[in-house]
Amino acid sequence: MIKYLTTPVISMLVLMSSAQAADIARGKAKSVTCAACHGVDGNSAVPTFPRLAGQNEDYLAHSLRAYQKGTRKNDIMKGMAAALTPADIEDLAAYFGSQQGLIVKK
Ligand code: HEC
Repeated sequence: MIKYLTTPVISMLVLMSSAQAADIARGKAKSVTCAACHGVDGNSAVPTFPRLAGQNEDYLAHSLRAYQKGTRKNDIMKGMAAALTPADIEDLAAYFGSQQGLIVKK
């Protein structure tokens, strides 16, 4: 009986682990190419390149999908977003969203 149960349980675990949620550490690893323009942790030092650090995670993911689809037009980011998978986008958005952005004094 145990023998017959093991296989479905293992395959379920494998399936569950492949459908992982957004992962900040994976996003950091994938952000190396972005750092050239957006800064090491998303804190760009150049006004031409928007600061991604601390930006809303959903907004970042939405923007990347929009560059892919062409609904947000920018030649540089269209090229950068083209190679990203849906999981890449979730991971990158989670990473940049979790970074410390500008501190606004009230
Ligand atoms: C060659 C320079 C360059 C690289 C490399 C680059 N970007 Fe960008 N990125 C830009 C520019 C320029 C803009 C502003 C485009 C616009 O006006 O829509 C931008 C905009 C964005 C935005 C929208 C920000 C906002 O505030 O609306 C996101 C999100 C973004 N980039 C993510 C990324 C990610 C993730 C990577 C790495 C996979 C990356 N970028 C790599 C130049 C770059």
